[in-house]
Amino acid sequence: MELEDDRLITSTKMLDETEVENTLRPTMMKDYVGQEKIKKSLEIYIQAAKKRGDALDHVLLYGPPGLGKTTLSHIIANELGSSIKITSGPAIEKVADLASILSNLNEHDVLFIDEIHRLSRAVEEVLYPAMEDFSLDIILGKGPSARTMRLPLQPFTLIGATTKAGMLTGPLRDRFGVVCRLEMYSNEELSSIITRSANILGIDIDADASMELARRSRGTPRIANRFLKRVRDFAEVKGSGTITLPICKEALTMLEVDDLGLDYNDKKILNTIIDKFHGGPVGLDTLAAATGEDSNTIEDVYEPYLLQLGFIARTPRGRVCLPNAYKHLGKTISKERQNYLNMFIEGTEDGRNGQTEN
Ligand SMILES: Nc1ncnc2c1ncn2[C@@H]1O[C@H](COP(=O)(O)OP(=O)(O)OP(=O)(O)O)[C@@H](O)[C@H]1O
Ligand SMILES: [Mg+2]
Repeated sequence: MELEDDRLITSTKMLDETEVENTLRPTMMKDYVGQEKIKKSLEIYIQAAKKRGDALDHVLLYGPPGLGKTTLSHIIANELGSSIKITSGPAIEKVADLASILSNLNEHDVLFIDEIHRLSRAVEEVLYPAMEDFSLDIILGKGPSARTMRLPLQPFTLIGATTKAGMLTGPLRDRFGVVCRLEMYSNEELSSIITRSANILGIDIDADASMELARRSRGTPRIANRFLKRVRDFAEVKGSGTITLPICKEALTMLEVDDLGLDYNDKKILNTIIDKFHGGPVGLDTLAAATGEDSNTIEDVYEPYLLQLGFIARTPRGRVCLPNAYKHLGKTISKERQNYLNMFIEGTEDGRNGQTEN
């Protein structure tokens, strides 16, 4: 997903970030930090496909913005030794656009479709036989004399990426042989991404500072790399150029990012749920209206991390704030509320609510 946004903690890509992102993008699996389960199974599938001389099965990558879907797609193509053609759901407007992309693919090429949930229905239907039988059904003529012609395609691998797996249609989803959900990164993983990026960019950073940045990066490599660059500027102006722990803390305080990586907007969302809606449940659209945020932004950018922290939970009737959020904001929680919330906490591991698919 590529949205512009001037907020520091947003996990969606900012307009001027493409170039730096490309320099920081690992190109081989061994440099791709974390996502161990996904890497392990992909490595096996890739080796098997190469051994058999087949195209790799179609791969669906899903998860919140900035977790490395685009990066991983390029790595898969590199590991396969294939070339990659890149497009996106909204860019393929007409059936003919897709037909031309597909018929120009060479054997075992990778076709990467970003934001695949945004394909139109008509375009999607062309994709079904292409994915399943490597063939293109073309309708010639109109009316009663119309007939379909089946054109063979070269065997290829489709890699679809989406932040909203729940918005994919069943038939499309079913045609992916490999479905991977990217997880948020641990602090250790983020710290090693930061160290690697610092090396590439020629930035000096102390280990404790790198860990501090990691802790505030919301489980997201894109945010970690962004913090690194901002804090570097700060270190050059205020210090000797090396990013030390005190410099790092000072910079992030100035940037209004708190200990957990929350900013003003996260707090606005939490405060609104607690103060205006008695802690919830409150529906997404109501919450969007009350905070002046776009409901998609709340869902894609803010919620995944708040869910991960166990600060909010999704219930059938809307979002509720959990005790961890009250604690973090220094708010008291009534006994009654605590009892009510217990039913959302029980049944989930240590009170944390994993991300729900959406
Ligand atoms: N596992 C990883 N190891 C090292 N760096 C990573 C990893 N994942 C992502 N990054 C870094 O984070 C940046 C963002 O990753 P990427 O563009 O692949 O995210 P995305 O999931 O495609 O996001 P979006 O949903 O916005 O398209 C990249 O520039 C890359 O350098
Ligand atoms: Mg991407």
